[in-house]
Amino acid sequence: MYETIQVLHSYLAYVALAMLIIAVINAVSGLVSKRIFTMDKDLRISLFALILCHIQLVVGLILYFVSPSGLSAIQEFGMGGLTSAARLLAVEHPFINILAIASITIGWSRHKKFVEGDKKFKSIAIFYGVGLVLILSRIPWSQWF
Ligand code: HEM
Repeated sequence: MYETIQVLHSYLAYVALAMLIIAVINAVSGLVSKRIFTMDKDLRISLFALILCHIQLVVGLILYFVSPSGLSAIQEFGMGGLTSAARLLAVEHPFINILAIASITIGWSRHKKFVEGDKKFKSIAIFYGVGLVLILSRIPWSQWF
């Protein structure tokens, strides 16, 4: 169970991150070039990134309860007893990623309220961009590669 979820979370991270990067680049380019926000391309890219991040969130939450590096690490060593590497996995990575995905979800909800393409692109660019930066800031890089 743990191994399967861990491998899933590890591989899904590539897809979710790639789609999030594409969504941010697409929104910034749409904003700069003052394009029309289209339903068949811009909406789909943003929605696809949102869905993948939410799936990654659910898998991450399950992983948090089954992994020895998640909640059990805190239960075993206590907050103060964690090394910085262990704290990254058990506290910083989960907490910051939940905030990141909240930001992405806000960006998606806000963009729907606007009719103008530039405001839609701006909402996606800012909120998805913040989410992307937060996620990248707390990836356990050394463990991933
Ligand atoms: C888009 C959001 C996320 C991304 C891109 C992401 C990415 C990753 C990556 C690349 C790893 C290292 C995987 C490996 O060792 O091969 C990892 C580990 C982990 N993640 Fe996430 N994660 C995300 C969200 C979350 C969330 C929301 C939680 C929990 C609430 C979470 C919990 C964990 C845990 C506990 C580990 C350590 C697993 C272990 O080594 O046993 N992740 N994550």
